[in-house]
Amino acid sequence: MNVLILGSGGREHAIAWKIAQSKLLNKLFIAPGNAGTLQVGTNIDINPTDFNSLKKIVLENNIELVIVGPEDPLVKGVHDFFLKDDELKNIAVIGPQKYAAQLEGSKEFAKEFMFRHNIPTAAYKSFTKANLKEGYTFLETLTPPYVLKADGLAAGKGVLILSDLQEAKNELTEMLANEKFGAASSKVVIEEFLDGIELSCFVLTDGKSYVNLPNAKDYKRIGEGDKGLNTGGMGAVSPVPFANNEFMAKVEEQVIKPTIDGLQKDDIPYVGFIFFGLIKVENEPKVIEYNCRMGDPETEVVIPRVKSDFLELLIAAGKKELGTKTIEFKNESACTVMLVSGGYPDAYEKGKEITGLNLVENSIAFHAGTATKNNKVVTNGGRVIAITSYGSDFKEALKQSYQNIKKISFDKMNFRKDIGFDL
Ligand code: AMP
Ligand code: GLY
Repeated sequence: MNVLILGSGGREHAIAWKIAQSKLLNKLFIAPGNAGTLQVGTNIDINPTDFNSLKKIVLENNIELVIVGPEDPLVKGVHDFFLKDDELKNIAVIGPQKYAAQLEGSKEFAKEFMFRHNIPTAAYKSFTKANLKEGYTFLETLTPPYVLKADGLAAGKGVLILSDLQEAKNELTEMLANEKFGAASSKVVIEEFLDGIELSCFVLTDGKSYVNLPNAKDYKRIGEGDKGLNTGGMGAVSPVPFANNEFMAKVEEQVIKPTIDGLQKDDIPYVGFIFFGLIKVENEPKVIEYNCRMGDPETEVVIPRVKSDFLELLIAAGKKELGTKTIEFKNESACTVMLVSGGYPDAYEKGKEITGLNLVENSIAFHAGTATKNNKVVTNGGRVIAITSYGSDFKEALKQSYQNIKKISFDKMNFRKDIGFDL
């Protein structure tokens, strides 16, 4: 089978790396891909939201399965585009249609879904410019800190957590009346603050059945000790040591099953990944958010721990036959440490030559923001390379990654030296 992966990050390289190992694969394409995906497939330089170009390359290359990496094409309706086109409608797309992608694309949609299906989550109310004053009154009823969320996609920046009531009111005004996050904040969800430790769980579903993928914990802040600005993610570990069997059974019964059942009850078709952003509060799971795709860098630890033929599972999901499949994991732990460009998540430079990648031993270098220039691998983004390793536990795995990182360098390279510090 010929397969196309949409996206250009570490997540897409990890998925490409795994699928390239499948005996069911004929040719693998990645659009647009990066210098790492080039090692396992053919890159095609198109933007994943340019649906007409996408159609052309899918037909030209006899693609039979499309895996959508990032949320943007899903929220913009790439799956719907395929279903509506006579030449594309029989091609499997892994990633939900536009309506279901609102689980990620609209915080209010997700909250309403969770409340409708009794899925544990923080109490909330949503507000628009028209009822801004009621928003102030609602804030006054809460105890700090205050959690304000732009309803729509805001590139990971749309959530504000504030300790001061006046500041919370000011930010609410900024978001609703002054469009702080553009159209994404024309509606704001204000929710109860949950105090606990976060983790992420993932399933692949065909809308009726699902397989669990390994769980993971990511490190979002730029600075050590979880300080400083939010990033796309600076590292991850899998499995999460505190998510024992008892806790994972609660996640399955209280969160995962009701979510899949809820999709069916609401008549929402769903083929693809669901990412459950969870928080453990006094040993109970609560959902912080849904994403309609895999996480990045979580994928760089989740996928390496999958033992089964991943393409076989994706094909089954596309045919809505996932109920006939099971998934096996490796027992070892995996960790990943993200090497980022100096300055990220603020402004940074691109085009810096990366050296030492050929010296990496017993780790996998998943490329995130890289490109090739004059036969050299150069930086091409904020997050540049994820160094993934296995170990008997996450500490062993981390040791291995940090050892290999010593061999890699590029101008102003930065990374967190304390991944897993809180476990
Ligand atoms: P989200 O984009 O919804 O995942 O939110 C981004 C981050 O904000 C989460 O990963 C949490 O660290 C934090 N957060 C979101 N909602 C809450 C909440 N209700 N209570 C505490 N922290 C939250
Ligand atoms: N690492 C968090 C995310 O992919 O959204």
